[in-house]
Amino acid sequence: MTTQAARTEQPLLSVQDLKIQIQMDNGVMHAVDGVDFDIYKGKTLGLVGESGCGKSLTSRSIISINPKECETTGNIVYHSESEKALNNLNLLSLPPTGKKIRSIRGRKIAMIFQEPMTAFSPMYTIGNQIMEAILIHRTKDKKEAKKIALEMLAKVGISDQEKRFDQYPHEFSGGMRQRAMISMALSCNPELLIADEPTTALDVTIQAQVLELMRELQKELGMAILLVTHDLGIIAQMCDEVAVMYLGKIVEQAPVKEIFYNPKHPYTKGLLKSMPRLGGTKSKRLDSIEGSVPMPIDMPPMCGFYERCKDRIEGVCNTKAVPKTYISDQHSVRCFLYSDQLEGEAQ
Ligand SMILES: Nc1ncnc2c1ncn2[C@@H]1O[C@H](COP(=O)(O)OP(=O)(O)O)[C@@H](O)[C@H]1O
Ligand SMILES: [Mg+2]
Repeated sequence: MTTQAARTEQPLLSVQDLKIQIQMDNGVMHAVDGVDFDIYKGKTLGLVGESGCGKSLTSRSIISINPKECETTGNIVYHSESEKALNNLNLLSLPPTGKKIRSIRGRKIAMIFQEPMTAFSPMYTIGNQIMEAILIHRTKDKKEAKKIALEMLAKVGISDQEKRFDQYPHEFSGGMRQRAMISMALSCNPELLIADEPTTALDVTIQAQVLELMRELQKELGMAILLVTHDLGIIAQMCDEVAVMYLGKIVEQAPVKEIFYNPKHPYTKGLLKSMPRLGGTKSKRLDSIEGSVPMPIDMPPMCGFYERCKDRIEGVCNTKAVPKTYISDQHSVRCFLYSDQLEGEAQ
């Protein structure tokens, strides 16, 4: 087995041993349990997994917007390209309501969500809300802020911007609201855009348009994207690298082509099998992974996928924590099938 080769480029953001625990009535939930990944300038990292795996908690912890009951540890180290004061800064060490994280949130690291109504207040016009973000972070000049807001609306393909500027969120269609949310998120030229299921609520045509828009804007603005989705089809279209998450852990991580053509983890293989294929025969039922994601409450050290895994090895996979194994420089997996530990024991 290979060990990881040091990548020479500095990551824009480095998530290290991230853990999020929530005290429940029946024990401690390890919702995120030792997650590591790096995000690079101009690149898209996809975070994929079934619902309930901890994707949203992971992504929201980057800008400290998780609810109070989440106890978060680890490091989230930010290396701003453009601001020395924000270089090598552990975002988790900042008070979540303090000035510093607020100056990063929205300006340097922006986030878009599945439901744009959560990003917009129904009480104010779309234009005013986009302008507000620009006035906080970019300029104090109202005229200039309005000009930037109108440009951003045009950039995301909203026509008749002057009229649209004065409309309220409910006057926009779902797809338009999503575009408006993207324009608000990008109005301050962030270095990182976190997109949590950005197109899940949209129909397929609008979904394709919004994804295309994100790709174009990424090319133009050079930002990095953390794309959170349960949809491998979106991953295939959008990502450079992929982290597959299951039960609070990254179980496999690799460049996108590796994930699709050389998947290792039984969970990744299961996700791929359940993915609809273009041109596939309609009558063939898609395989889905049997069982559902359990609640990670007081789990003993073992593979979280054990119960659902067709390749499980009894007495190994259910008796200890699974170490990370490097298949190649940039391809890692957490599975005893590939682990040196297993080889050692078999002898
Ligand atoms: N505030 C909370 N209180 C209790 N449990 C939570 C809370 N937020 C999330 N969870 C639980 O944590 C797990 C991970 O949630 P989440 O990050 O939203 O998953 P995903 O985005 O992958 O669907 C789930 O089991 C979810 O029910
Ligand atoms: Mg989610």
